[in-house]
Amino acid sequence: MSSTAESTRTLDILANQALPRLRAKGSSEKPKAGELEAFFRNGGSWKEIFDASDVGAERNLVADRFAVENISVLDVGCGRGFFSFACAAKSARVTAMDPMDGGGRAGWWDEFKRSSAIMGHAHSVCGIRASADSVPLKSGSFQLVASVHSIRNFGSVEEIRGLVREANRALGSGGRLVIVESDVNDPGSRGYRAFYSMRTKLGWELELPTGDEMASFLEAEGFGDVSQEFIETDLDYAPIRFPYDPSMPKGMADEYKKAEKQLEDEVERPPRICIVSGSR
Ligand SMILES: C[S@@+](CC[C@H](N)C(=O)[O-])C[C@H]1O[C@@H](n2cnc3c(N)ncnc32)[C@H](O)[C@@H]1O
Repeated sequence: MSSTAESTRTLDILANQALPRLRAKGSSEKPKAGELEAFFRNGGSWKEIFDASDVGAERNLVADRFAVENISVLDVGCGRGFFSFACAAKSARVTAMDPMDGGGRAGWWDEFKRSSAIMGHAHSVCGIRASADSVPLKSGSFQLVASVHSIRNFGSVEEIRGLVREANRALGSGGRLVIVESDVNDPGSRGYRAFYSMRTKLGWELELPTGDEMASFLEAEGFGDVSQEFIETDLDYAPIRFPYDPSMPKGMADEYKKAEKQLEDEVERPPRICIVSGSR
């Protein structure tokens, strides 16, 4: 693992969350110029940053429950790679899959590879470009198929069903499929609900199925031991605060800004994490 302040946009997201916590006197101010370099000069590591960040801590929470040493994991919709890195740190071998650089994610594989190398996971994580509903990999080759905060960016609910079908094929006997998403219907986080609805209206995020609906998709494909878990957390694990920008459809600016303000003002915790899983 690199012990220098060489970074990427992905790693900056982690550092911005983690550095305020890692300060000796723990103030919540945003990191200042040169702070990351000073952190590494004093012996800090990217693993410490990952573990101390909200995004990293939440991915660790999921990996701790389902990923064990020496298993093969298929991370569907890996995006920036946060869940892949959490599994790789537990000595799992990870195949990270995503249809990017499509979907407005130009250059993301390059970003993924650089972040992975800096984190020290270049040899345990490999990336492939593919969609969840058409996995170009041998049947029965994985012990864990996971999709962590990814189905929000799928094109349709049919693609989620496709993920479940393909996971059933890609998993070996006894393997587990795990789908993790925010519970946007969490009554304890109404501001998030309003903002998320705004984003679905803009076509940027999929209207998410409920935990019950997702569980029924797994049962329909023959998964056993299907369970739903809801975990309440203060972790800012999937930030969705993309500010209004003028490329958004005209006429939606006011509504978007209002939803954004509601998200800022309402003192609420992030929505519960919904984990639906089943065994093959
Ligand atoms: C929010 S990001 C991923 C988050 C990531 N798993 C993590 O741990 O931070 C969602 C990803 O889903 C991917 N995606 C969209 N449609 C997909 C599909 N049909 N199959 C697999 N991934 C898809 C997007 O390209 C995007 O990179």
